[in-house]
Amino acid sequence: MSAVADPGTPRLRPMREYDLPRIMAIERGAYGFPWSEGIFRDCLRVGYCCWVVIDARCIQGYGIMQVASAEAHVLNLCIDREAQGRGLGRALLRGMLEVARDHCAHNAYLEVRPSNEVAMGLYRSENFRTVGTRRGYYPSSPGREDAFILSREL
Ligand SMILES: CC(C)(COP(=O)(O)OP(=O)(O)OC[C@H]1O[C@@H](n2cnc3c(N)ncnc32)[C@H](O)[C@@H]1OP(=O)(O)O)[C@@H](O)C(=O)NCCC(=O)NCCS
Repeated sequence: MSAVADPGTPRLRPMREYDLPRIMAIERGAYGFPWSEGIFRDCLRVGYCCWVVIDARCIQGYGIMQVASAEAHVLNLCIDREAQGRGLGRALLRGMLEVARDHCAHNAYLEVRPSNEVAMGLYRSENFRTVGTRRGYYPSSPGREDAFILSREL
């Protein structure tokens, strides 16, 4: 039996500042309205839970989460366009929720565009339920788009 981890098995590790060039490439490729590098730097600086998912020795995605007062708020969850649809988003989400439990969170929240069917499918299948709407929360090409607020117990 080999002592070396299978390089094809996805694993999570904390995000580091030196990951930011790769993170920004994924972010810009995945979103029409990407976060700036400054937002990621701020998330690292203030101590949010910032994790990357690595597959085939390469960062393929990342999650950003704030945990406070027993509530986890998933702020970003993203997989490289080229690596989507292979189960990495689900593995990353489950990993982030484990981190939230480790921080003694009892509930998880997130916002999602109602038009984002892939993300909605993932979150619903992971037992998130819609608990509210934020009007005009997201920028979009005609103007603004609402966000659904989703939540689940941990
Ligand atoms: C949303 C996202 C994180 C999902 O990650 P992923 O690795 O592509 O998804 P997975 O392969 O883990 O699939 C998880 C579920 O998502 C849904 N899904 C995935 N690909 C899909 C597709 N092409 N069409 C419809 N639903 C799809 C399914 O419900 C799937 O579950 P199943 O495989 O049991 O059917 C990823 O697509 C992404 O980064 N998108 C761009 C950024 C984004 O929108 N982030 C979410 C912001 S709230």
